[in-house]
Amino acid sequence: MIIARTAVELRAALDSKTGSIGFVPTMGALHIGHRTLIEKARVENDVVVVSIFVNPTQFLAGEDLSKYPRREEADFKICQLSGVDILFYPEVDAMYGNDEVSIKAPDIRGYILEGAVRPGHFDGVLSVVIKLLNITRATRAYFGKKDAQQLALITQMVENFFMCVEIIAVDTVRESDGLALSSRNVYLSASERIEALKLSASLKRATHLVMQGVRASNEIQRVMFEILQPLDVEYVAIVNRRFESISEVVIGDTIVLVAARVGTTRLIDNVWM
Ligand code: PAF
Repeated sequence: MIIARTAVELRAALDSKTGSIGFVPTMGALHIGHRTLIEKARVENDVVVVSIFVNPTQFLAGEDLSKYPRREEADFKICQLSGVDILFYPEVDAMYGNDEVSIKAPDIRGYILEGAVRPGHFDGVLSVVIKLLNITRATRAYFGKKDAQQLALITQMVENFFMCVEIIAVDTVRESDGLALSSRNVYLSASERIEALKLSASLKRATHLVMQGVRASNEIQRVMFEILQPLDVEYVAIVNRRFESISEVVIGDTIVLVAARVGTTRLIDNVWM
């Protein structure tokens, strides 16, 4: 596995390879969810590039940037064992300069839900993703459905800027008890981890309600809120794939999302219907 620390080093490493490039962008603290993305990239491409970069521009003041889990050695090993060809591991100054052209998330879709709780977060995500997609010259880039709004906005950016990369959405990986895998799960104490199961339980109940024929969003949201008590719920939302709020579930075009704080840890989860 080649480790590249700058765009120039990455380009040089890519120049020695041929064929399609599958790219998995990450912020490290790799878990089985990331491995699933890497494995899919491995199967579908000739060359696999993974980036590990804790992108400062997507953290708001007071968020967990400085304490975001960093596990360099374990992450390198996981990449090596997963058959990654090139690991891109830049420092902040290899990615950002002064007085740059800025990328801004769309005014509506980029500032609702996650974007409302974390205004400016998606500007930072899109800024770094466009850089990473350009540096890696990815044929396909892999993103988890767990960050559904991020995935929708990146897909939109690729369309809006006529970029030549295919965005691949990959299903959320869960623990056997339903907890969606997240790098932030390490912050949960044993009792908080049990409380955290309320997120996936509320989504499971939403799925059951829909299977029983319930379509009204407000009824599904009401039941989910009940299950989520006494967590500090930030939102329970029902949207279509374009992230427009919908009053009725439409099978094949609906995402049910939840965000809540468990202790001091902020968790998100969703189900695609
Ligand atoms: O989902 C993430 O881990 C990050 O938002 C991403 C896409 C790697 C950009 O920093």
